Order: sequence, then C-alpha cells, then structure tokens
Amino acid sequence: MIAITGANGNLGKATLSFLLKKTSPQHIAAIVRDAAKLGEFSKSGIEVRVADYEDQESLEKALAGVDRLLQISSSATGVRAMAHETRVVHAAVKCGVQEVVYTSTLFPHESARFQSAHVCRNTEAMIRQSGMKYVFFRNSMYHETIPLFVGEAMGDGRIFYPSGSGRVSFASRRDIAEALSNVLTGPEFANATFHITGPSAHSFADIALALKDAAGFGEAAHTDIPAEDYRKGLLGYGLPEEEAAFYASMADSIRAGEFEGTDRSLEGFLGRKPLGVQEYLRGLF
Ligand SMILES: NC(=O)c1ccc[n+]([C@@H]2O[C@H](COP(=O)([O-])OP(=O)(O)OC[C@H]3O[C@@H](n4cnc5c(N)ncnc54)[C@H](OP(=O)(O)O)[C@@H]3O)[C@@H](O)[C@H]2O)c1
Repeated sequence: MIAITGANGNLGKATLSFLLKKTSPQHIAAIVRDAAKLGEFSKSGIEVRVADYEDQESLEKALAGVDRLLQISSSATGVRAMAHETRVVHAAVKCGVQEVVYTSTLFPHESARFQSAHVCRNTEAMIRQSGMKYVFFRNSMYHETIPLFVGEAMGDGRIFYPSGSGRVSFASRRDIAEALSNVLTGPEFANATFHITGPSAHSFADIALALKDAAGFGEAAHTDIPAEDYRKGLLGYGLPEEEAAFYASMADSIRAGEFEGTDRSLEGFLGRKPLGVQEYLRGLF
C-alpha cells in the first residue's frame, strides 16, 4: 500500500492523478484531514484515511498497513510544522512503514536562512535515524509560487521583491508530482537524496523579462526593495507577524542563493525535459 500525507493539497492531488495512471486504486491511500475536499478522487477507488497532523493517534491509524509513504512536508510554519512532521515520522515507525519518500527543500542546511529549511533538516535527520528506507526530494520552488511572489506584477510586469540578484531554479509542481509517482511505483532506492530543480535558475530581473515576453507588457523590471519594507508591507496586508517573518526568510534565502542550484534528477525521473519558467509563464496569459 502506498499512502500520501497532505493528499488534499496541490502536490498531493497532482501526485494522486499520476499514481492512478500507474497502479491500481486499491494500492493507494490518501491521508487527508477533510475527506469531503478530495472531490472526484474519493470515487476513484482509492482508500481515504482521515488524520490530522495535530493528532498522533489519527496518524497511527491512517498509516496502518502502509509500505511506502509519500510524506509531503507540512504547510504550517515554525514549531508547529516541526511537531507535525515529527508526529508523521513517529507514526510511520510505529506502523512499520518500509520506505518514506519525503518532500524536503533544496538547501536544508544549518546555515540556511529559509525557515522551512530547518524543519526539513530536522525531519530528514529523524527519518535517517529511524531505520526506514528513504528517498528525499529536495525541491526547489514551484513555478506556481511566481504569481504569489510578484503579486501585481502579473498585471504590469513591475516586480518589487527583496531578492537582490538571487536566482531560483523554479520547477513545475506537476512535473514534481509526476516524478514522485514514478518513484513511488518504481523499484526501491536504498536511501537516496535528490535535488529537484528546473533546468535553469532565474533572478527576478529574468522573471520580469519573461513576464514581459509572456504577457506582452511594454515594460517590465525588478526593483530590489529593502527587506524591512517588504516585511512591513506584508504586515500591512494583514499577515500575522509569524507569516510575514516566514515570507521574509524566503526572500532572504533567495538573495543568499539558497535556491539557485540546478540538477538533472527531475529530468531523469521524467525521461524528458522539465517544464521551463518561460513556458510556464506563457501558459498563464
Ligand atoms: N517548493 C515550493 O515552492 C513550495 C511552495 C509551497 C509549499 N511547499 C511545501 O510543499 C508542501 C506541498 O505543497 P502544496 O502546494 O501541495 O501545499 P498545499 O496545497 O498547501 O497542501 C498542504 C496540505 O497539507 C494539509 N494540512 C495542513 N495542515 C494539516 C494538518 N494539521 N493535518 C493534516 N493535513 C494538513 C492541507 O490540508 P487541507 O486541504 O485540509 O487544508 C493541504 O491539503 C507544502 O505543505 C509545503 O510544505 C513548497
């Protein structure tokens, strides 16, 4: 049995779609906190198991009989995310899960500026020490985050973001989902770590030019604003302090080059070139 945590999320649902093309629905369990949100998938024959990352017992019930687990990283931040992911790992060990495929982040190092990198680093270490077999997908940023980063620039090409000349090796979430489905239905890896990136890294000045090209804007440019102005701007939009700090850490990590690495693992898993940023942006207009 293959199970997926966070199965109601964007990556989870995309992975379910690919898995259903590769294996029988009876071999798939979707772990969700709200079964009603699974929509069409609940009629596909997969097993739907309800569990909450806040509730250890529910996770232990949901992971019973699971051989391969896709542990999608928690969407929470800080200590809550750390607690969520710790509970999943403990439940997996208790239930005798054989292999965990975990979605980590590109640079989960001690020196990382990105807050989530510390959560992922901790979870990777727990999984390594657990004795379960593992595959780590150290994902770069999704293409789908670009509209969130650039906000109103989707309408005029003028990006204000405190990333300096930092570059990001954006990758398509759909491509990552396809690659995950190939790993989950393929032969076991005896403990492996992959850096999952798009084919090239782009600064936000590059993204502005790509937007100009894709949307046909007359002008487009990236302005590197002070990090503190960005953080205050987020607070001004009503984001809580913790979330603003999270997004500020993301910009800081991009500026520091934590997301600029590229690797051909994704291409290897797909057996074709991954979708590039320009193609992704052209598809939005
Ligand atoms: N690489 C990147 O650019 C990038 C960008 C964003 C996020 N991420 C990370 O990658 C993960 C997958 O991305 P995504 O786009 O699929 O995220 P997503 O759409 O936000 O999905 C996250 C899923 O986690 C579930 N969840 C949240 N809290 C939970 C809880 N307490 N118990 C059980 N389930 C809970 C949510 O359930 P509900 O549907 O019930 O809310 C949701 O289905 C994220 O969780 C985050 O760690 C990476």
